[in-house]
Amino acid sequence: MTSTSKLLVSLVFAVAALAAPQRAAVIGTVFQIDPDLGACGWKNTSAQAVGAVSATTFHSYPGATANPNKNPICHHNMNITANGITVVVQIVDYFKEDPNAGPNDVGIPVPQFVKMAPVRDGIIEDATWIII
Ligand SMILES: *[C@@H]1O[C@H](CO)[C@@H](O)[C@H](O)[C@H]1NC(C)=O
Ligand SMILES: *[C@@H]1O[C@H](CO)[C@@H](O)[C@H](O)[C@H]1NC(C)=O
Repeated sequence: MTSTSKLLVSLVFAVAALAAPQRAAVIGTVFQIDPDLGACGWKNTSAQAVGAVSATTFHSYPGATANPNKNPICHHNMNITANGITVVVQIVDYFKEDPNAGPNDVGIPVPQFVKMAPVRDGIIEDATWIII
């Protein structure tokens, strides 16, 4: 191994060590999704406790590669808290950001959404969520 590649390896480990503690809690908007075949490579349904994060969150997760199926985020849950209720869902997909869905937002199926707010609300603003 050249000293340059050794340096690179130690840098990679240093970055991984820094990234290892879970991200801090994030505040964003919760919206409703209808899960199907997701970026993690699984077919999930709205009856399951699953959720989607933004493309930014997904692709910046430590260990993410070009293969979304192998993204370590797929083996994590997130806690989403709003109106004093916390739901725990497995991260199985990402959504493309657009003017209605920003990098700090998350999507969950209706059966999870209604634990925190009525379905007719459509979205829940200022929810707190954290990847665990
Ligand atoms: C999502 O689908 C995958 C593949 O079937 C399954 O392993 C996983 O448990 C599902 N997630 C939940 C929360 O049910
Ligand atoms: C996630 O939610 C579970 C269930 O409510 C709770 O026990 C756990 O402490 C929460 N973790 C974080 C980091 O908020």
